[in-house]
Amino acid sequence: MLNVAVLVSGGGTNLQAIIDAVKNGVISDAKISLVISNKQNAYALERAENAGIKNLCISPKSYADKAEYDDAMIKAIDAEKVDLIVLAGFLVVLSERFVKHYEGKIINIHPSLIPSFCGDGFYGLKVHERVLERGVKVTGATVHFVDSGTDTGPIIMQKSVAVKPGDTPEVLQRRVMEEAEWILLPAVIDAIAHNRVRLTNGIAEVVD
Ligand code: GRF
Repeated sequence: MLNVAVLVSGGGTNLQAIIDAVKNGVISDAKISLVISNKQNAYALERAENAGIKNLCISPKSYADKAEYDDAMIKAIDAEKVDLIVLAGFLVVLSERFVKHYEGKIINIHPSLIPSFCGDGFYGLKVHERVLERGVKVTGATVHFVDSGTDTGPIIMQKSVAVKPGDTPEVLQRRVMEEAEWILLPAVIDAIAHNRVRLTNGIAEVVD
C-alpha cells in the first residue's frame, strides 16, 4: 500500500482528483495519509477534511527560518511513514535539504508541456497567460519528479490539450485541468503504487 502525502496551497482540484481516483479505483494500492497546506484558508484543506484525511497547515511564516520550517515539514511527513509526496498546486519553493531527504519520492504536476512555459515565475494562471501570448496551438500538463531545480526533474507523463480560438487564461486553465491534470496525476500515482515507473539515467518511463 503506497502511503501518499499531498502538499497543497490553493483550491485543491488536483487533490480532489486524487481523492476521487482512490475512491473509484482508478488508483489502487495507495492511500492519502496526509495533506499539508502552507495556507490556513486553502480550500484544499476543507476537501481533505471532508474526505476524512488528516490535514495540517504548516506555514513558513510560523518559523524563524527555512531550516525550522523544513524540520516541521519532515517531522509531520515522516510521522506518517510516507512513500510518496505529491505537490498539487503547492507554491512553496522546497529547499535542497528537503528534496534530498525525499530523493526520488516527490512528484509535481505542472500545467504545461515541460520544457515549455515552466521554471521560475511560471505557475497557476501565469502559465496560461504566457501560452496565449505566444500563440501556441497545443499545450497540456506534465507530471515530473522533483529535483533541486524548478520544474526540471525527470518527466514521467504528459498529456496535450488544444488551445482554442478565443480562449481566455481562465478557460484554458480549466480545460488543461479537466483534460490533462486531473487524469495525469492519478495515473502516475497508480503507476508508482504498482512499481511501473522506471528511472534510468535521468529518464523516467512508465511501463505496462
Ligand atoms: C493548477 O493549475 C495546477 O496545475 C498547478 O496549481 C494550480 C492549482 O491547482 N500546479 P489546484 O486546483 O489547487 O489543485
